[in-house]
Amino acid sequence: MISNLHVRIFSATLSPTNKPTIQIPLLVIAQYIIGLCALALGLWILSPIVLRRLTTDADGNQIPPGPINRYFFLRKYPERVLQTWAAKYGSLFSIWMGTQLFVVISDPHVARDLLVTNGAVFSSRKRYYMKNQTILRGRAITASDYGETWRQHRKLAMQLLTPKAMEGYADSLDYEAHIMIRTLKDDGHSGKVPLNPHHYAGRFALNNMLFISFGIRTGNTEDPLIARALELAMEFMDLTGPWSNHIDFFEPLQLIPSAMRTRGRKLHEDLIEVYGSMILRVKARLDAGEYVPDCLVKTLIQDQEKEELDWEDLCMLSAVFTLGGVHSTSGIIQWFLALIPSHPEVALQAQEELDRVVGRDRLPTAEDEPNLPYVRSVIKEVRRIYQRKARLNASGVEQQLKPHIPRWAFNPDRYLNDELSCAESAKLSDVMDRDHWTFGAGRRICPGIHVAERELWLAISQLLWSFHFHSLPDEPISLKEYEGLSGRTPLPFRLGLEPRDGRLESVLKGDQELTYWSL
Ligand code: HEM
Repeated sequence: MISNLHVRIFSATLSPTNKPTIQIPLLVIAQYIIGLCALALGLWILSPIVLRRLTTDADGNQIPPGPINRYFFLRKYPERVLQTWAAKYGSLFSIWMGTQLFVVISDPHVARDLLVTNGAVFSSRKRYYMKNQTILRGRAITASDYGETWRQHRKLAMQLLTPKAMEGYADSLDYEAHIMIRTLKDDGHSGKVPLNPHHYAGRFALNNMLFISFGIRTGNTEDPLIARALELAMEFMDLTGPWSNHIDFFEPLQLIPSAMRTRGRKLHEDLIEVYGSMILRVKARLDAGEYVPDCLVKTLIQDQEKEELDWEDLCMLSAVFTLGGVHSTSGIIQWFLALIPSHPEVALQAQEELDRVVGRDRLPTAEDEPNLPYVRSVIKEVRRIYQRKARLNASGVEQQLKPHIPRWAFNPDRYLNDELSCAESAKLSDVMDRDHWTFGAGRRICPGIHVAERELWLAISQLLWSFHFHSLPDEPISLKEYEGLSGRTPLPFRLGLEPRDGRLESVLKGDQELTYWSL
């Protein structure tokens, strides 16, 4: 029937009648127009999903400029595209991720105004579907809305994280750094066998967090708890990259079964199972009147009733130090080891300072820190480089850098006159003088900052004291590419760690693996 009509109804000729004519059926034109209208309507309906339509908010305030498209995730290295947009749209730009508007700040003054001065307004966090709703279920401090629960849980954790509390387990942090050096030396057969430092740096950071959380440590590098805890922490990092999950930004996907959703739910269950069983074993020891070192879980169990903590609160709080403090700290140690082989002049200068101040009869300690300004600068510079890779995906803020030292360069000289710790630097009244923003800002600044600084000091100063660092001729270490979603660690690499002299063996003599007690 329709084809009959096509044949019979003609609309127009496209050329004079004395020439061959092309005639188009009217119905085809009508259908074409209807099709176009439908397409336009469809695009109009879909436009809020794929395009930025609003330029003002509900009160008529201008929204900072930004790209016209909406995104459901950003590609592998999100911080790179954010940097490109910051260059194009300015130090305050906005980007729609699905239905969520993000404002990206790259200006330290604005960051301070919003996160510090107006901290009462800007200290909550987006309820990411994957991280906050599915895996942590609004708990573990980092996933709690800014409010009473967050305040209460942060206060509980801070009891173990203040500089004073840290002195209680300072010896344990120092001991773990010695053990990391010893295992690197032994497993590397004094520099003859190249090593991938991932496992060693990971175990160092993990043991520190296990000790603060549970009063335990892993007694050897083969301990299955290392692999299990690192695996859970890695899965957490992979699933919670702040820009990478389309499921976070396109709500309908949250209702549909998907691999991502399944992984998130499974991780939640695994965290409850692994950390829950560890809590139960601490509780059993306490109930039996056995000795348990002071640690977070002991505090939580003792205060559970008073603080009205439910089972999930306990599990998530006991997991959070491992989730927040292992990949971050071990990532920075790995970046140090990735950078240093190609900067022998930095290693030499640091080692000259260490030999002059500390000598060759002992490893450097926390007390040496004020007297080793160059080594301090090396560590701050590694943290800054790490921030450029991993943390720019959280905020684009960068401090005022010495103009004669390019931003991209690995050059510790930029921090030579900086005598402040990162925690002190974060409180400076002139925000442009702050060293870097690796630990965040405002009321949710990393509560582990003192512990992390101490760990990094011990690990990096002792590595510098102990070894010469060699990359392998056939295995160049990439400083441009890095592990994808969370951006925390370099791509897997190996290096040679050759003891600087025979003194290393004698200073490590007393340091053998201990198990305080096991769970
Ligand atoms: C070098 C290592 C570390 C880095 C770079 C780092 C960085 C950060 C940053 C940037 C934040 C703020 C996130 C936000 O604004 O929401 C944060 C929060 C947090 N960090 Fe760390 N961190 C490190 C080590 C640690 C350690 C060792 C611990 C535990 C002992 C820890 C526990 C936490 C917790 C619980 C939070 C959540 C705070 C809140 O939401 O109030 N971190 N960390």
